[in-house]
Amino acid sequence: MSNILKTSDPTSAQQRRVLITGVTRGLGRAMVDEFVRLGHVVIGCGRSARIIDQLNAGCGAPHRFDVVDVARDAEVQAWATEVIKSHGTPDLLLNNAALINRNAALWRVPAGEFDAVIDVNIKGVANLIRHFVPAMVKAQRGIIVNFSSGWGRATDAEVAPYCATKWAIEGLSRALAQELPGGMAAVPLNPGIIDTEMLRGAFGDAAGSYPTAQKWAKQAVPFLLRIGPKDSGRPLTVS
Ligand SMILES: NC(=O)c1ccc[n+]([C@@H]2O[C@H](COP(=O)([O-])OP(=O)(O)OC[C@H]3O[C@@H](n4cnc5c(N)ncnc54)[C@H](OP(=O)(O)O)[C@@H]3O)[C@@H](O)[C@H]2O)c1
Repeated sequence: MSNILKTSDPTSAQQRRVLITGVTRGLGRAMVDEFVRLGHVVIGCGRSARIIDQLNAGCGAPHRFDVVDVARDAEVQAWATEVIKSHGTPDLLLNNAALINRNAALWRVPAGEFDAVIDVNIKGVANLIRHFVPAMVKAQRGIIVNFSSGWGRATDAEVAPYCATKWAIEGLSRALAQELPGGMAAVPLNPGIIDTEMLRGAFGDAAGSYPTAQKWAKQAVPFLLRIGPKDSGRPLTVS
């Protein structure tokens, strides 16, 4: 994969350090390829060690991928310390990693499954913010994008735990925006509806009628690169 910055594209005129959680499949994996293709430096994490190894082998330095479970605060803290030392603070922090519950009425969702969705989708995002944002605030720069969902602004049966977390992300992101210094931004982002493993979990084969993650990333990455301080606190949707 090329590291050459394509300056003819206005959204890649300046090389950014982009940190993405959940890069082993779906939207995260597709964003890695697109950011790298446009000449940006990507730092990513996920839990699947085999795919993290493949990403390191395929992308090479200065890109960097590590096995990190975002739900584990101490792991995130250690990773943040290393990454800030090796790469500096992220220009764009994309809190993308998430889980969805298996379709079920709320009262049928086992406690352990409910906890896992909360731990990754809310606490995982807070862990990244806790350990990366202080250095970003000190540098007075950087954009934080927390992946929300249509189900962060509306609801449906059988996805109550997931809805609860994405509604939380909307509030958390907007409150965070009020805390940041000027020159920075935090936004909740609805990425749209995309055919990924997560969507297949909720929609089954009907997920196949939605765009692939690769197609989505061609549109989403320039959109993400255009987010700036003027957007802080605004709920955004990839368009
Ligand atoms: N697809 C859609 O239509 C859609 C719609 C609305 C919102 N979204 C949101 O968009 C984001 C990406 O969704 P997706 O469809 O790409 O999901 P996906 O295909 O299920 O991928 C989720 C990614 O998150 C990672 N992940 C999960 N738990 C993690 C943990 N504890 N620590 C680190 N990484 C973890 C997974 O990797 P490992 O298993 O290797 O850890 C995987 O790389 C999510 O926030 C989702 O809620 C998606």
